Amino acid sequence: MNLSRRQFLLCGAALATAPIIELGAASTPASEGSRTLVAAPARARLLAGTETEVWAYDAQVPGPLIRARVGELLDITLENQLPQPTTLHWHGMRVPNPMDGVPYLTQAPVEPGGRFRYRFAARTPGTFWYHPHFRTAEQQDRGLHGVIVVADDAPPMVDRELLWVLDDWRLDGQASIVDDFGDLHDASHQGRFGNTATINGAVPPDLPVRAGERIRLRLVNVANAWIYGLDFSGHAPLVIAYDGHAVPPHPPPGGLVVVGPAQRVDLIIDLPGPRGARFEVVDRFYRNRSYKLLDLVYTEEALRAQPLTAPVGLPAPSLPEPDLERAERHQVRFTGGAMGGLESARFRGRNTGIRELARAGKVWAINGVVADRNDEPPALELGLGRSHVIEFVNETAFPHPVHLHGHPIKIIAVGGEPAARATWRDTLLLGPRSSATVALVADNPGRWMLHCHIPEHQEAGMMAVVSVE
Ligand code: C2O
Ligand code: CU
Repeated sequence: MNLSRRQFLLCGAALATAPIIELGAASTPASEGSRTLVAAPARARLLAGTETEVWAYDAQVPGPLIRARVGELLDITLENQLPQPTTLHWHGMRVPNPMDGVPYLTQAPVEPGGRFRYRFAARTPGTFWYHPHFRTAEQQDRGLHGVIVVADDAPPMVDRELLWVLDDWRLDGQASIVDDFGDLHDASHQGRFGNTATINGAVPPDLPVRAGERIRLRLVNVANAWIYGLDFSGHAPLVIAYDGHAVPPHPPPGGLVVVGPAQRVDLIIDLPGPRGARFEVVDRFYRNRSYKLLDLVYTEEALRAQPLTAPVGLPAPSLPEPDLERAERHQVRFTGGAMGGLESARFRGRNTGIRELARAGKVWAINGVVADRNDEPPALELGLGRSHVIEFVNETAFPHPVHLHGHPIKIIAVGGEPAARATWRDTLLLGPRSSATVALVADNPGRWMLHCHIPEHQEAGMMAVVSVE
């Protein structure tokens, strides 16, 4: 990946229009009734002064922000004006199985010109998102993604609430999206990295802030493969939620706010000043690949002399608590990829050597099986209404954001050590050659996807079906 280009584009971005979505006061009415989302080709100003052909919902990148309250029924019709089939998946929302948007598993693909009506209740407060689940590597990366915010019951008082949809794009010299989706090198390594970092669909300009201000910042990583590790130099953000689920407020471990593909992090950031000062927000997840994402620039006027001191925590999530004593135990092993040493695996029902797999574009396996489509026989069978403990073991040389549909998962151990704090997630960033153990109550019946959320990995075999029956 060409990092000088990433940096070059960022430097040239000072004149971009403000891409910061302000969520406004918490009293903003929730979106009422039904709506349509049209998926279609469109144009977006990712870089100042030039337009890029994208695919978008309602011609916006990111797609329209959907706001809801707990208990509200969302009624959303997808209209497909793309040149290929698509579906909509409501990432992290605990929807009924037929509304989950997985082609061949929960619904037929929505053909060009077709429609599909999704109806489900918002059950859990938090930051969620939506994206296609058909040819995701291409469709999501061309711009199809949007955010759902389900209002908290008792949100902390803040001066401003901001949303940053983090993405990276692989653009050529004309600012066009490079059309090499499905590249086997990307698929067998870290996935599709871009060269242009955007926030809310544009290379970000400076963010004006005021001394004394308290901001809630919702981060959503919609990149295919890029992992963000944000360093808010000079500031001390507190994490208040992961993947929408509240955690006791705490500084990000290691000082970096890490957001893997598909993950969300909610932060409270106090802005102590001084007036007129400038601070860099630097993405330094990858060693030797750090770059400045944007600058926080203090205005000359302070908002208040003393920072707020009110508590910032959210109410603890109300999710079904797994019974660890009685839980059924399972293991999920991820193998394959470059430097992974995979020699063969089961594919289309028979043992298949790695060369033949690679010719079919498949390089990853889950429990020794390479998925072909989304409708494999279940790799895991979870008894409905029961507690389950799943150990995820990553035997590969790459990190994988592991996503289970339909159920939040509680992280109980990482690398064999008990987790420091109770954390609920829907997407777990599993480090190279490491393991993590999660627990859940299987309370949502149906057949659900479990997959790596780097779609290049997913489409190259790193997915499985989990039945809850
Ligand atoms: Cu966000 Cu199976 O996806
Ligand atoms: Cu992966």
